Amino acid sequence: MIQSIRGFRDILPGEAELWQKIQRIASDLFEDFGFKEIRLPIMERSELFAKSIGENTDIVEKEMYTFSDKGKEWITLRPEATASMVRAYIQHKMYAANQICKSYTIGPMFRRERPQKGRHRQFYQINAEVFGENSPLVDVSLIFMLKTLLSRLKVDDVEFHINSLGCPECRPSFTRRLKEYLEPKKETLCADCVKRSVKNPLRVLDCKVPSCGEAVADAPLLTDFLCPDCQSHFQTVTKTLEKRNVPFIIDKKLVRGLDYYTRTTFEVHTGALGAQSAVAGGGRYDGLVKALGGPNQPGIGFAIGFDRLAEIVGLKKEDCIQTPDLFIAALGETAMTQAFDWICDFAAKGIASEMDFQNRSLKSQMKLANRLGASHVMIIGDDEIEKGEAIVRDMTASAQVSIPLKGIVEAIEPILNLG
Ligand code: HAM
Repeated sequence: MIQSIRGFRDILPGEAELWQKIQRIASDLFEDFGFKEIRLPIMERSELFAKSIGENTDIVEKEMYTFSDKGKEWITLRPEATASMVRAYIQHKMYAANQICKSYTIGPMFRRERPQKGRHRQFYQINAEVFGENSPLVDVSLIFMLKTLLSRLKVDDVEFHINSLGCPECRPSFTRRLKEYLEPKKETLCADCVKRSVKNPLRVLDCKVPSCGEAVADAPLLTDFLCPDCQSHFQTVTKTLEKRNVPFIIDKKLVRGLDYYTRTTFEVHTGALGAQSAVAGGGRYDGLVKALGGPNQPGIGFAIGFDRLAEIVGLKKEDCIQTPDLFIAALGETAMTQAFDWICDFAAKGIASEMDFQNRSLKSQMKLANRLGASHVMIIGDDEIEKGEAIVRDMTASAQVSIPLKGIVEAIEPILNLG
């Protein structure tokens, strides 16, 4: 038997309905906040990710699915969506139509990480990005939108972690200071962090290896190095979040695993997921549009891990699954032929109905109707066809009504209480 690839999984019926519901709730909310959907390709030129996420990040160094396209060019299955969003924004000159451009996208991402609970090689993200606005109020509105979504989905065990990563004005002096701090501690760092301490020292700050955590316990903090503009931006963000009653924790060691961030960065953590506790992450990337060849327009956004979100939502899977409005228990060939016509016509009218094609006994058909969770059952055999009417039974109320078979497609709707 051919099995799926390690780290790649099927989202089966039963689970998929829950995903659809989450997706609908997210899209409706985002659209109320002025976001429009954008659909992006899942493959891009490899250089897009190297230039945006950064050459010295785990994602680009170790985790990308990169292929040569018949020797013509290098292409990569996208490990995230922000880079593609920026590419599309520049390529289609989306900045020309509106000063502020708000887009969201939902789809699969690919990272060759070690699979474990909450970590897959193909996983899904819900992304929202805003281009063209520097105001710290946009940072707040995004975080507020994320918080609103989580409460609509009945996710309550969450913490918002927030930090500022400064800008090209103030970050270099911090990076220099951090390198100096790390230099004498190299022996206690993990092999990856020894390299990072030279090439990308910020990443040492959130390494999960305990000895690295100890080594950076007294490390300098970026928030102490912010320039006046970054400081005031961060202050407005935190003050406005307080005003809007969004609880958060200032996490001075939060650096994120992608290099494009500037100023406000944030992550949402939950106690409900075990080791992979980050449900969402995001932040500003004010220099990225320009770095990828576009105009000097700021950007900010977030991505929610869909797989992780689906694990922790307070919605019940059973409530998301559509069950048939009607099961037609047909007895005999003539009734079956008639029932088949009806189920086609019912479905075309938006009435979900099912039947059995095997001419089973009434008892087996009733069992099947129960298993499918049909809310109504209609029994039809030669007698009913001759009389020109049949009984429709409401399975929950245990009530039943008689219905004329002529014009049944029109007559059935009010009986099924479909409103
Ligand atoms: P990220 O932190 O790499 O950020 O990913 C965002 C979320 O995707 C994570 O918090 C997690 O829930 C989920 N995720 C990441 N990797 C996996 C995996 N292997 N399996 C399951 N879930 C995973 C970004 O991707 C940025 N592009 C976010 C962003 C948007 N920043 C600005 N705009």
